Amino acid sequence: MSNPIARDLSEHVVPLRPDTSCADVFARLLAETEIMHIPVVCGDRPVGLVSRQDFMLVYVRMYGRELYGRQPVSSLMNTHPVIVDAEASCEDIGTALFSNETHSPLQGYIVTEHGRYFGLGSAATLMLATADMLAARADELERQRQRAEAASESKSQFLASMSHELRTPLNAIIGFADLMRLQLLGPMTPTRYHEYAQDIHGSGIHLLAMINELLDMAKIESGHFELHEDEVDLALLGNEVLRMMRQSIQIARVTLRIDIRAALPQIRADEQQVRRVLVNLLSNAIKFTPAGGVITLAAHENEAGGLEMSVSDTGIGIPADKLDKVLEPFEQIENSFTRTRAGTGLGLPLVKAMVEIHGGTLHISSELGRGTCVCVALPPERTIRQKSVAA
Ligand SMILES: Nc1ncnc2c1ncn2[C@@H]1O[C@H](COP(=O)(O)OP(=O)(O)OP(=O)(O)O)[C@@H](O)[C@H]1O
Ligand SMILES: [Mg+2]
Repeated sequence: MSNPIARDLSEHVVPLRPDTSCADVFARLLAETEIMHIPVVCGDRPVGLVSRQDFMLVYVRMYGRELYGRQPVSSLMNTHPVIVDAEASCEDIGTALFSNETHSPLQGYIVTEHGRYFGLGSAATLMLATADMLAARADELERQRQRAEAASESKSQFLASMSHELRTPLNAIIGFADLMRLQLLGPMTPTRYHEYAQDIHGSGIHLLAMINELLDMAKIESGHFELHEDEVDLALLGNEVLRMMRQSIQIARVTLRIDIRAALPQIRADEQQVRRVLVNLLSNAIKFTPAGGVITLAAHENEAGGLEMSVSDTGIGIPADKLDKVLEPFEQIENSFTRTRAGTGLGLPLVKAMVEIHGGTLHISSELGRGTCVCVALPPERTIRQKSVAA
């Protein structure tokens, strides 16, 4: 039974009438030793519950028999038993049973149907049914997890083969377009074809970058992303990236400042990934900073001995309520400024994932209209300490 209700969990115990004498109840309890509780019903409405233990404690006491033998059972019953409807779920019964402070849940509960006595339920059967239900739910969750894992596995398989299928012809397109745009086989006429070749080449490069990002995201999500560790000099790498981006910095007409402390220790990291972290953060800063703004690339050692690098800008900023959102895949903030900017919204989630694979953290602080600072902190274990030369 997957979701039993009160009706399924109750057993029919022949009830007592309120005017049954305590002597008769005592006789029945002696005769029916398996019964722990007996409901008391007036007409067909439950009015009380007799608990074997409580009843016996009073009845067998000195003068108990003399005092109560002729008394009706209503003088020795619990007049406020827990009553639940036959349709009540295990959760409902549990709530009714365990929130009643006037008596112990071990006394069980009376089940009624349309207000009429139906049967008696015990805490033990309720517990058993709840445990069964939880076990079934755990099984179901495990099955769902396995299905999700299989689906995610086939999704990354699909993406991997798709991207291979796309990348191969795309590389050919980029290669031929490059050949044509450089006019390696002679001048192209009319000249408009030359412009087309340039556009094809540009679009091809853009598409390839997008496919690569998608594939990386899929790899990260399926846990197949590998780290190729090396000793990385952040100052050298920073300068190399800046050289790479010099042209877009000039086109955007922004100023770039570098604040990298001299004698920065090397780090143990995947150079390719650190490069992409810097490229993504800088390209965001360039993309979202209007002409005349300033972008600063900084790196220093923090107090804990870890390395921190940050890219800050004086650009359009990110609204406070979107700071978490922009770290999710495909999330972009649309406004009149950004609508004109290209992108897929995978840059920041990739940066975050790459930083986290290195055991680091990423923090964004931003003020709308004033600028953004993305700070990446790598743990001290990533810093390579120069071994001191023994004297
Ligand atoms: N420096 C920044 N200043 C202002 N907004 C930013 C900045 N960096 C990111 N954002 C906002 O966060 C969004 C997500 O950034 P992300 O780098 O993930 O994607 P993208 O730059 O739009 O596309 P992609 O990086 O895939 O080309 C951006 O679209 C932009 O709205
Ligand atoms: Mg980006």
